[in-house]
Amino acid sequence: MVKAVVLGGIGQPLALLLKANPLVTELGLYDIVNTPGVAADLSHIATPAKVEGYLPPDDGLAKALKGADVVVIPAGVPRKPGINAGIIKDLATGIAKTAPNAFVLVISNPVNSTVPIVAEVFKKFGTFNPKRVFGVTTLDVVRASTFVSEILGDLSLSKDVVVPVVGGHSGVTIVPLLSQSSHPLPSGFAKDNLDALVNRIQFGGDEVVKAKSGAGSATLSMAYAGAEFAAKVIRAVKGEKGIIAPTYVNLAADAQGGAALTKELGQELAYFSANVELGTEGVAKINPLGTITDAESALIKAAIPELAKNIDTGVNFIAEATKAEAAKSDEPRL
Ligand SMILES: NC(=O)c1ccc[n+]([C@@H]2O[C@H](COP(=O)([O-])OP(=O)(O)OC[C@H]3O[C@@H](n4cnc5c(N)ncnc54)[C@H](O)[C@@H]3O)[C@@H](O)[C@H]2O)c1
Repeated sequence: MVKAVVLGGIGQPLALLLKANPLVTELGLYDIVNTPGVAADLSHIATPAKVEGYLPPDDGLAKALKGADVVVIPAGVPRKPGINAGIIKDLATGIAKTAPNAFVLVISNPVNSTVPIVAEVFKKFGTFNPKRVFGVTTLDVVRASTFVSEILGDLSLSKDVVVPVVGGHSGVTIVPLLSQSSHPLPSGFAKDNLDALVNRIQFGGDEVVKAKSGAGSATLSMAYAGAEFAAKVIRAVKGEKGIIAPTYVNLAADAQGGAALTKELGQELAYFSANVELGTEGVAKINPLGTITDAESALIKAAIPELAKNIDTGVNFIAEATKAEAAKSDEPRL
């Protein structure tokens, strides 16, 4: 029995893909709009999941989260980090209160900061388990597979092309390790072309926003990527061994693996997107970067200060919010 819950955002296509997953037996939807209708629509699909949709009134968030095993958070507004921080804080508070043992998959951007926000909220409630909180970076992995198979001239390969993408989940923090691709690039692939490919993987989201004339972001490909990652977590939690996926995690999730990775990076970072082996408890093992080229090493070097800044932004947001709440509760009541 697996209950999956989707909190806002990219909800419709992601909920459709989760409803199509036969391992999901219950699907809870929560948003500030539309969820009852979406749930009614999805509930007619002939797959095992029982679907329910909730809105904020009458404790809708708690009702959606009750009994959740996996919670996926795509709530928020594309490219509005300030607004999303507050939304994520509130949703994480709801999870800490109602589903403290759930596996939490964060999609809302900026993932480099929203994952630390979720973790800091959980720490306040004493429910933080670093093995169970993931930043979903799968879209970068999916883009890398697609773009490499385009270059190889055969899109049918894209399902099998595996490129580890490490670092973080925005711009220069996205580091595709193309030298480790399961399907090597053509021999003699020019450096300029390689740089352009790296840039396309890092900024693929802009391509979509531009093509949609600013009227939306990468909703459909993200839904696909989110459902793929959720399916991997569910399969691993149910006992399937050997599932490895890049994901943005707190390095305390695997002390030994985290320490080895920190040594490779040459600098301490609390969070990093690494090639993670998933298991019944969530993160089973954080894998090292392994052998990388000088060019990839330079990309990692460029990513580190930006990542450190993004992590601080998330941690400080909760610290400030906590201070503001404490100051408010000290105010004399009239
Ligand atoms: N991780 C990724 O690769 C990736 C890719 C694309 C988009 N995103 C992010 O996902 C988020 C959503 O993007 P989108 O394209 O679905 O945006 P959208 O504007 O289409 O949808 C946002 C949804 O969030 C809901 N929402 C707003 N406030 C909420 C709250 N307090 N509680 C619950 N739901 C709330 C809205 O009602 C709406 O349904 C953004 O942060 C975006 O940047 C991430």
